[in-house]
Amino acid sequence: MYSDLVMDHFSHPRNVGSIPDADGVGLVGNPVCGDLMKMFIKVEGDRIVDIKFQTFGCGAAIATSSMVTEMVKGKTLDEAMDVSNQAVAEALGGLPATKMHCSNLAADGVHKAIEDYQSKVGAKKG
Ligand code: FES
Repeated sequence: MYSDLVMDHFSHPRNVGSIPDADGVGLVGNPVCGDLMKMFIKVEGDRIVDIKFQTFGCGAAIATSSMVTEMVKGKTLDEAMDVSNQAVAEALGGLPATKMHCSNLAADGVHKAIEDYQSKVGAKKG
């Protein structure tokens, strides 16, 4: 029922952890199940140079978190904003229909971390 890629990212999640001096942090919760995901990003110029995540959730949520960190690392902030939850699920070879709601956290977490970074930069400039 899960693709090999989902199982691989669940069993060996990439970029797990936190970044104590992160430039942006995004916390999102899944209204369906109450699971939580936290994304930490380091930004240089307009690029995400490092990203880590902590997910308090199911295997599909962990796999999608892991996948999105690989998809956006090294990307510009604009490019990362364009990565959708749907794209993450597709990159994993799809998720069972009953677990699609689990893919609603990953890209949203990254987007929130970017917004957090941008609000801090804006605050500094202002
Ligand atoms: Fe909550 Fe999957 S069951 S994110």
